[in-house]
Amino acid sequence: MYCIKKVTDDLVWVGANDRRLALFEGVYSVPAGVSYNSYLLTDEKTVLFDTVDKAVRQRFLENIEEALKGRKLDYLVVQHVEPDHSAVIPELIRQHPEIKIVCSARVLEFIKQFYDFDIDSRVRLVEENETLNTGKHTLQFIMAPMVHWPEVMMTYDSTAKILFSADAFGCFGALNGALFADEVDFAKDYMDETRRYYSNIVGKYGTQVESALDKASAFNIEMICPLHGFVWRSNLNEIISKYMLWSKYEPEERGVMISYASVYGNTENAAEILACRLRDKGIKTVIFDVSVTPASEIVSAAFKWSHLVFASTTYNAGIFVTMEALLNDLAAHNIQNRRVAVIENGSWAPTSGGLIREILGKCEKINILENNVSILSGLKAAQLSDIEAMAQAIGYDFPAPAVAARNNQTVPNTVDPAVMFKLSYGLFVLTARDGNKDNGCIINTVMQITVTPIKISIGVNKANYTHDMILKTGKFNVSVLSEKAPFHVFQQFGFHSGKDTDKFAGSGEALRTTNGVRYLSEWTNGVISGEVKESIDCGTHTLFIAEVNQAFSLSRDASVTYQYYFDNIKPKPQPPKGNKKGFVCKICGYVHEGDTLPDDFICPLCKHGAADFEKL
Ligand code: FEO
Repeated sequence: MYCIKKVTDDLVWVGANDRRLALFEGVYSVPAGVSYNSYLLTDEKTVLFDTVDKAVRQRFLENIEEALKGRKLDYLVVQHVEPDHSAVIPELIRQHPEIKIVCSARVLEFIKQFYDFDIDSRVRLVEENETLNTGKHTLQFIMAPMVHWPEVMMTYDSTAKILFSADAFGCFGALNGALFADEVDFAKDYMDETRRYYSNIVGKYGTQVESALDKASAFNIEMICPLHGFVWRSNLNEIISKYMLWSKYEPEERGVMISYASVYGNTENAAEILACRLRDKGIKTVIFDVSVTPASEIVSAAFKWSHLVFASTTYNAGIFVTMEALLNDLAAHNIQNRRVAVIENGSWAPTSGGLIREILGKCEKINILENNVSILSGLKAAQLSDIEAMAQAIGYDFPAPAVAARNNQTVPNTVDPAVMFKLSYGLFVLTARDGNKDNGCIINTVMQITVTPIKISIGVNKANYTHDMILKTGKFNVSVLSEKAPFHVFQQFGFHSGKDTDKFAGSGEALRTTNGVRYLSEWTNGVISGEVKESIDCGTHTLFIAEVNQAFSLSRDASVTYQYYFDNIKPKPQPPKGNKKGFVCKICGYVHEGDTLPDDFICPLCKHGAADFEKL
C-alpha cells in the first residue's frame, strides 16, 4: 500500500524509509534507519525529483502511481546518480516509457556507467542556471559538484521558492511519520545524526559545499527538500548556519573531545584524569573509546568540538589499530582548524605519539600542543604534573570569564582590556620620515571619518618614536597588512623602538609615496598617505586627523584583523614545561618565569606592563 505525504498543494513526498539497512554505503551504522526522499510535482507537466534505493523500490513505485492519479509522468529530474537515488530509474522507465530525463552532461555520463537502458532518446540535457517551465512552476538547475559526487545538481523552483538540495541538508534516520523538521525536536533528536551524515558523507568537500551555499544564497529559499531526512519549511537558518560552520571546519562547541585507544586501561586512565583536570577548569569534555564507538560518531564529534585529544597505546611499533584507522579517517575527511593534544603509551618503545603527530601534521590548520605525555605502561604520580600541564595548556584557550559564562556562572564585574581586541580592528604599519630617519610601528586604530575630502583618524601611542615624528612633520603612511603578513613583520615593527633600531633593516628597496615616506610593498594590500590636519591629546595616545592625499591598492588579499592575527599568525603561548611557575603576557604570550612579577615589569617583547600578565 502506498504511503505518501503532502509537501505543498502540488508537491508530494513519494519516498520511503529503510530500517533494516545494516550499514549505509557499507560503512556507516544507521540504527534509526534512513529515508530515501523523492518528490513528485504535479504541475501542467508532472515532474519527479530523483528515485530511491532498490531496497524500497516497491513502496516507491506504489507511491508514484498514487500521486500521479492516472496522469503520465513527463519528467524525471536526476540530481545525483549514487544508486541510493537512482537504482529504480530503469524500472521507472519500463513503467513510464514516455518519461524525459532532465539532467546534466555529467549525470548522463554516470547513468550510462551504472545502467544499460536507452537514455539518449529521452534525455534533456541542462546546464548551469538553465530553466525548465512546467506550467506554473519554473525550475532552475544549479550544479553542485562534490556535494557529494561530481555530477550533483540541485534544482530551485522559483515559483514555490523550494530548493531541491540533493544530498545537502540530509540526515541519517528514518522519517517516523513526520516529514518536516519543525514536527520534531530536531536540535535534540536529529542534529547529531545530521552532523554525522554531513561530516562522513560530504565533510571532505568543505570548499565545494561553501561554493554551493554561495550559489544558493542568491535565491529566495522558503523550503529545502533534501534526498535524506526532513524537509525544512521554517527556521531554515538552523540547518544553514550549521552547514556554514561545518563547510569551513569551524567548531560548533568550545570544549575538548578526548578519544583513546587502550588495551589494558592505562591509557584510558590518563585520558580520564585529563578530562577531570579540564572539567576542574570548567571546560566541557566528551570521551570516546575508539575500540567501542563507531568511527563515524567520533568523526562527527571531531567536527563539533574545538579541541581534540588523542591518547593511544603503541601497538606493533605503531599506533593502536582502531586509533590509526580513526586518525586516517579524520585526515581523509579533511579535519582541520583544531587544537590537538597527544598522549602516548608504550611499555618498551612508545612511538604512537610521534606517529599521531605525523598523520595530523599533514592536515591543514591543526595546531598540535608541544606538551608531551608519554607513559611507560601505567601513569605514575610523578607524571600527574604532565597531565596538569597539558590541561593548563589547553586551558589557555578557555579564558575563565568565557568558561563561567558558558557554564551559567556569574561573570566578574571587571574591565578586561583584551575585550577591546574583539572590535574588528585591522593591523597596520604606520610609517613616518624625519630628515633622513625612516621609522614605523604597528597600530590598530585607523578609521575613515569623511568622504569629501577623505579624512582618516589614527590613534598613536605617545611612547612610539613614530608618534613624535608625525607630530613634528605632519606626514605619515598607513600600510594595510594582509592575512599573508608573517609574524616577523609584527616583531620587526611592533616589538622594538625605532629610537635604537632601524625598523627597515633588511627590507630591500626603499619604496616611498609622493610625500617621501616609506611604505611596505610586501604583505600589504593597500597604502594610504595622510597629512595631519588636527591632533587631539588623548592621554597616553594622540588622535591624528588627517586628509588622505594618496592611496593605492597592492593586492586583493584580505586585510588582517586582530582576531585573525591572534588565531593564525601569532604563535600560541606555551606554558613552561614541567612544574615551572611564572606569568604569561596576555598580549604576546611572553612567559616570565618566577614566583613574583614586579609591578613595574615591562614585557621585553611587546612592551606591555605587569597589568597585562596573568599567573600560569
Ligand atoms: Fe544519498 Fe550521495 O547519496
